[in-house]
Amino acid sequence: MQIKNLTIHGKTFLAPLAGISNLPFRLLVKKCGCSVVCSEMISAKGIFYNSKNTLNLLTSQKEEQPLSVQIFGGDPESMAKGAKFIHNLKIASILDINFGCSVKKVVKQGAGVALMKEPELTKAILSAVREATNLPLTVKLRSGWDHSGEQAFQIAQIAQNCGVDAVIMHPRTAGQGFKGRADWNLISKLKKQMAIPVIGNGDINSVEDAGRMLESTGCDGVMVGRAAMINPFLPSQIDDFLETGSYESSSNYEIFRAMESLTKMYVDYFEEEPACKMLRSRLSWFVKAMPGCSAFRKKMSSINSKNQIIELIKEFETSIN
Ligand SMILES: Cc1cc2nc3c(=O)[nH]c(=O)nc-3n(C[C@H](O)[C@H](O)[C@H](O)COP(=O)(O)O)c2cc1C
Repeated sequence: MQIKNLTIHGKTFLAPLAGISNLPFRLLVKKCGCSVVCSEMISAKGIFYNSKNTLNLLTSQKEEQPLSVQIFGGDPESMAKGAKFIHNLKIASILDINFGCSVKKVVKQGAGVALMKEPELTKAILSAVREATNLPLTVKLRSGWDHSGEQAFQIAQIAQNCGVDAVIMHPRTAGQGFKGRADWNLISKLKKQMAIPVIGNGDINSVEDAGRMLESTGCDGVMVGRAAMINPFLPSQIDDFLETGSYESSSNYEIFRAMESLTKMYVDYFEEEPACKMLRSRLSWFVKAMPGCSAFRKKMSSINSKNQIIELIKEFETSIN
């Protein structure tokens, strides 16, 4: 797949996931074999004002390339400055713009899905960003503020006219959040109208789901969010399936090694105490389907050190073998 001058081997994208798709998680999903990983959404204003927390989100390692970095904001000036800043950091293979976040804090500043009601402002932002960087540029849309998808079709057209290189669509409305079903018909409709690649997103929970989305919508790639939080191997299994017609489910051994690897990377990156707090939930998601997972989750809920986690993983692994 080609996005501008970037050749992507495979069709899978890890979705931007605030609070989740940090550097350690992206490295894990990349190591498992995903084609492209995406950063958490990053505030253009935060870059503009040199916020330490925002700049920390821009830590990257070459092993995760190609990396897509997502920014959000509601005014052309800070978005263009943010884009230029990221361009100069040389960490991004793709720059993505968030048109989908429906969290109040973001919508109130006229960013995220709020932009889907503002075609003129969208045009100004995308033109300014396009002028600021020649990186492959994508936009990630929802269906809009109603179920028709008309706002998505309009914004996608504007994006294409402004020189955006691909569109990602999560076909739920602003009001839906993550409720109901993603309306894949809207991805088909969008694909028919676009000359640039369309990447479909929403409710891909298995390899077969990804195959169905690609076949039924004609989209060029698939983006996986919540299911990758449970199974970081899913994007690579999808790519295997698309390439060879078959894939292997991950073994318990691979899952436990992935958990150990994520633990070590989290502790190195966040330091031990905050890392352990975050890992309590995140590691429990990985073993959701295994017998005895609730006892594991209960024990995880009070762990405070890396060694405790490694011990707990070993104990659980022994118990199910
Ligand atoms: C915890 C969480 C954080 C998210 N953060 C972002 C984000 O930073 N930027 C964004 O565009 N979408 C974000 N999303 C939406 C996802 O990227 C994706 O569009 C959505 O989860 C639908 O895909 P899925 O069904 O594969 O999960 C987030 C979703 C979740 C569950």
